[in-house]
Parts: sequence; structure tokens; C-alpha cells
Amino acid sequence: MATHHLPVLTEAVVRWLDPRPGATLFDGTLGGGGHSRALLTAAGGRGRLIAVDRDPAAWERSGLETAFPEAEVRFLHARFETALADLAAGRLAGAPLDGILLDLGPSSDQLNDPDRGLSFQVDGPLDMRLDPTAGEPVSAWLDQQDEASLTRVLRDFGEVPGARGLARRILAARPITTTAALVALCPPAHRGRGGRRHHPATLVFQALRIAVNAELDHLAAAVEDGVRCLTPGGRIAVIAFHSLEDRIVKQTLRRLAHPCVCPPDLPACACGRRPAITLATRRAVVAGEAERAANPRARSARLRVAERTTNPLS
Ligand SMILES: C[S@@+](CC[C@H](N)C(=O)[O-])C[C@H]1O[C@@H](n2cnc3c(N)ncnc32)[C@H](O)[C@@H]1O
Repeated sequence: MATHHLPVLTEAVVRWLDPRPGATLFDGTLGGGGHSRALLTAAGGRGRLIAVDRDPAAWERSGLETAFPEAEVRFLHARFETALADLAAGRLAGAPLDGILLDLGPSSDQLNDPDRGLSFQVDGPLDMRLDPTAGEPVSAWLDQQDEASLTRVLRDFGEVPGARGLARRILAARPITTTAALVALCPPAHRGRGGRRHHPATLVFQALRIAVNAELDHLAAAVEDGVRCLTPGGRIAVIAFHSLEDRIVKQTLRRLAHPCVCPPDLPACACGRRPAITLATRRAVVAGEAERAANPRARSARLRVAERTTNPLS
């Protein structure tokens, strides 16, 4: 099945990663392969690409197996956290890398597939796994939650208003096996700021998806391992779609760019820690009006890029 995913900030990703001909690239979130194609094209159709996705369906859908006959493209069905940890530790061949891209969250292909249960707009099994071969669907995950844990997930990952009351209603209604049954428990849609229609189920689905896929658990470590894998001058680019993700990326990059732990009143650095990266983008890069109008997913996208120095990671 062909991809319907429209990649976000593609021009900016290519401009900031700027792959030279023959570059060694790592796309940790292959999805429909749009970014990978753009990067390999910019690299003159040559070079090496390690393409990773936790969804085994991504590889075939991307069409990358045959698209660049002069490039060496390898697909790994894995979490990028694991792949980057393995590359950094030498358990997996392929480093050093010239460019790394992580474009977080689900793809439109996954969101639009009713069998995945990722969208509150289509009825389907209450699953939400990005990798349908691993872990457990939300319907089973809910069976292990109590009021406190589910409230925390709804609050922390979705900022869901009235999280405790909703958690109680969800737990009382178990077993919940379809997306429609979950939507029926959420408050009805209303007009939010700017007159835009808003459905509280959006936040509920986001929160449960993040929890069941453990999307935030190893993000900081993955960025750090990514930096470890880069060649000096190589770059890592991360696109985040909600504030929690973006905060983790921003704080991790800042820490690696400013590792000195000396008291601020010390006249000169005594800890000897040198930056492993410089921040290529001072602020997050966001989509322009035209892209935001053409691709609603681009509205919340925030791209951050850092460049590897020659200093070791402290
Ligand atoms: C936003 S889409 C990427 C779209 C892609 N950049 C493109 O141009 O089509 C995110 C993809 O990353 C995958 N994904 C999300 N988190 C992942 C993780 N931790 N490890 C590996 N793949 C992940 C999802 O399965 C999905 O296919």
C-alpha cells in the first residue's frame, strides 16, 4: 500500500542536515519515507541510509528498497532508541553517521488506518500500538490501570481537563474494546479559542497513545546516543509535535551544548567538560503559513538541530 503521509518541514530538514554526496544517514522514523527520499536525493542518490521504524509496515510502504539503486539502504524493524544505543556501543555496524533524523509520533498512514485504533474519528479496535507486533493494545493496558495511574497519564501526557473524573468513567466501563466506545465516554466536542472545533477525545487518544507506546521514556537517551554516533560536523535533527517531547529534546541538546558544571562565579571552567555539540538552531524551526495551511500536522511541528563537535561526551 502506498503512503499518504505528507512529511513536515522537509525543506528545512534537508537544508539543516545538508547531506553531501555519499553521506551516511540514519532515519530513525522512516514512516512513508518522504524525508529519507529527500535526504538521499540531496545526497546525489548515493550514500548509505539506515532506515528504522518500529512499524514493520513502513519499509514496504516507503518504496525505498528500489528507489535509489546507487545508495546502500538498510531497514531495521526496531525502536530508534535501541538502534542508536546499539550503534553507539558498536553492537550494530554503521556509525559514524553524518546525519540523523527523528520525526516523532505516528504517521498519517497509521492514524488513518482504522485497524490501528489511533484516531478517535474512525471506529476500530482500541489498540494504538505503533508496532502491532510488540507490547499490548490499549484495551488490555487499561485493565492494569487504577484511578491514580490513569489520571496521571491523562493529565501528564494529554493535559486532559477533568482527568480524574474521566479516568473513573473509563475504568468503570471496562472492558473497552473499540475506539468508538472510548469516544462515547469523553466529553462532547465544543468550540475552542478562535472558534475552532475541538474534541476532548483528541487529548485522551494522545495521552493513551504516548503511554502505551512509551514514547517519552527513552527519548533523552536516544538523542544522547545519536550525538555519540555522529562524526564531527555531523548533525542531528529532531521534529517534535507536542510540548513534552519538545521539552525533552530541547533540554537534552542544551545539556550537551552546555555541559560545564562549575559554579557560575568561578572565573574559569575547572570541570573540563567541553560541549559535544553546538546548537545549529537557536530556536525551534516551525512551518510557514503555506505549509501550515496545506498540512495540518505541520502546525505543531518543531524542529531542532545540533552539530557534533570534536569533544567527547562527558
Ligand atoms: C511522523 S512519522 C515519520 C514520517 C517520515 N518522516 C516521512 O517522511 O514519511 C513517524 C514514524 O516513526 C515511527 N516511530 C515512532 N516512534 C518510533 C520509535 N521510537 N522508534 C522507531 N520508529 C518510531 C512510527 O511508527 C512512524 O512510522
